[in-house]
Amino acid sequence: MTLRIDDVVLTYPDGDRTLTALDHVDLDVARGEFTAVVGPSGSGKSSLLAVAAMLLTPDSGRVTVAGHDVSGASPAARTRIRRDHVGVVFQQSNLLSSLTALEQLLVMAHISGASPRAAAVRARELLIAVDLADKEHKRPHQLSGGERQRVNIARALMNRPEVLLVDEPTSALDHERGIRIVSLLAGLTRENGLATVMVTHDLGTLPLVDRVLTMADARLSEDGRKTKADLLAAPMGAGE
Ligand SMILES: Nc1ncnc2c1ncn2[C@@H]1O[C@H](COP(=O)(O)OP(=O)(O)OP(=O)(O)O)[C@@H](O)[C@H]1O
Ligand SMILES: [Mg+2]
Repeated sequence: MTLRIDDVVLTYPDGDRTLTALDHVDLDVARGEFTAVVGPSGSGKSSLLAVAAMLLTPDSGRVTVAGHDVSGASPAARTRIRRDHVGVVFQQSNLLSSLTALEQLLVMAHISGASPRAAAVRARELLIAVDLADKEHKRPHQLSGGERQRVNIARALMNRPEVLLVDEPTSALDHERGIRIVSLLAGLTRENGLATVMVTHDLGTLPLVDRVLTMADARLSEDGRKTKADLLAAPMGAGE
C-alpha cells in the first residue's frame, strides 16, 4: 500500500487532560485509488490528513508512506519524504500573493532541487492539466476561487507525489465548480496512479470517488453507502 496507517492514536493536550483526535485508526490507500473521508466537524478528519502528511506525529501506531515507515523517522527525514512523495492541498489556498500561477509551481521544484528547465516543462504541463494554461502569469488576486484551488492542486503535483492529501477542496466553491475540481482530482488520481485521500463535506461529489470512509468521534470506518443518494437515504450515523 502506498499510504498505510496502522492503529494510530493521536491526542492533543487539552488543559490538564488530553483530547483524542484519532482513536486506533487504520487506513490503507493503494495507487490509483481515490478515497473520500466524510464525517462531522471535529471528528478528526484534518488530524488524519496531518498524520498522513507527517505534519503531526501520532502518540502510537505506525505510518507508512510510499514504502517508508515514518513512525520513528527524524523531522528531517519526514520533511524529505513529504517533499518527494506527498502532495498536500489545504482547505485555505496558501498561495504566495506576489507570485504568478507558474511561479507558485516553480518554487516547489526549486525546493526539491530540480533543474529549472525541467521544472518549467513540468509546471506548464500541470497548468494545462488543470486547464489554466492561459493564466500562468496571473497572481492569486487575479484568479477566481476555483482557479486558485486548481493552482493549489497543480502545485501539490509538481514533485510527482505518490500520495495526494486534500482537505475540503470544494468548500469555497459552488456546486458545479466543486464537481469540476473533484472530477479533476479523480482524473489525476487515475492518470498518475496517486493514492488520494480527500476530506469533504460535499456529498454531491461522492459518486466520483472509489471509496468513502466515515470519521466519527475520532474513529474511522468504511462506509459501503457510496453515492449521494445512498447517503441521503440512510443518513450517516443512522446505522444499517
Ligand atoms: N492543535 C490542536 N490542539 C488541540 N485540539 C485540537 C487541535 N487541532 C484539532 N483539535 C481538536 O481535535 C478534534 C479533531 O479536530 P480536526 O481538525 O481533526 O477535526 P475535523 O474533522 O477536521 O473538523 P472540521 O470538519 O471542522 O474541519 C477536534 O475536537 C478539535 O477541536
Ligand atoms: Mg478539518
